[in-house]
Amino acid sequence: MKIVRELSTLRAAAAALGPLAFVPTMGNLHAGHVSLVRLARRHARAVAVSIFVNRLQFAPSEDFERYPRTFEQDRRLLEAEGVELLFAPAEDVLYPQPQTVTVHPGPLGEDLEGRFRPGFFDGVSTVVLKLFNAVRPAAAVFGKKDYQQLAVVREMVRQLDLAIEIVAGETAREPDGLAMSSRNAYLSAAERAEAPRLHQLLREVTVKKITPEQAMHQLAGAGWKPDYVEVRRRADLKVPQAPERELVVLGAARIGVTRLIDNLEF
Ligand code: PAJ
Repeated sequence: MKIVRELSTLRAAAAALGPLAFVPTMGNLHAGHVSLVRLARRHARAVAVSIFVNRLQFAPSEDFERYPRTFEQDRRLLEAEGVELLFAPAEDVLYPQPQTVTVHPGPLGEDLEGRFRPGFFDGVSTVVLKLFNAVRPAAAVFGKKDYQQLAVVREMVRQLDLAIEIVAGETAREPDGLAMSSRNAYLSAAERAEAPRLHQLLREVTVKKITPEQAMHQLAGAGWKPDYVEVRRRADLKVPQAPERELVVLGAARIGVTRLIDNLEF
């Protein structure tokens, strides 16, 4: 595995490998990330992964400083997966001066997560576009765990005419249903035991045992601070107007200081 830290060396290293499937990450890799790497392998002969904790997508109140950074462990894991190229730039390589030019994804980025994390999808879109431009992949893989992020990236690719195939990977879960996430490491033992409730309640919404409002209410009753639970159309994340078949329920809630998100298609 070639490890590249500079834009100047990245171009030549990527070009030498031929068409690439690319998995952008913020590191602290878990089985969810690994499943995306394996999916990437099915879409191109060579796989590139990036590790970059993107300051632009963290609000000042959020966890940028304490976000887990585990480079050595991540490197070994990617090596074992046979990844050909790891791009791990320092902050001043991707953001050499204040990044005043940003990508604003429009209404889709202001809905759902965007209502509670203003500017979050500007930060995500900007770094993803910069990473796409740096790595120049033929395909890029994103997890359904971050369902709205996947939709925002797809829409950016469509509206900015980027010639990159976007591939979606299923959400990897712990045996009790909790979606794998780097932020699960912040949970206390008691919070970890409580955390699968989010997934359980989303499941109950999909089988129509409860409404999204009831799911919010039950989260609050169990000590969570729910931001939203909403049923949307899979295709564009808009509110369904007539009875529809391709739906997704998305939820976000805080347990202690940790904010968890999850979703289920139905
Ligand atoms: P990060 O949270 O590291 O996630 C990297 C990729 O892994 C994303 O596409 C995410 O959806 C996917 N992922 C996370 N948890 C998953 C799980 N349990 N199962 C399957 N896939 C999972 O998402 C980001 O980083 C950043 O916003 C990034 C796109 C890298 C831009 O900075």
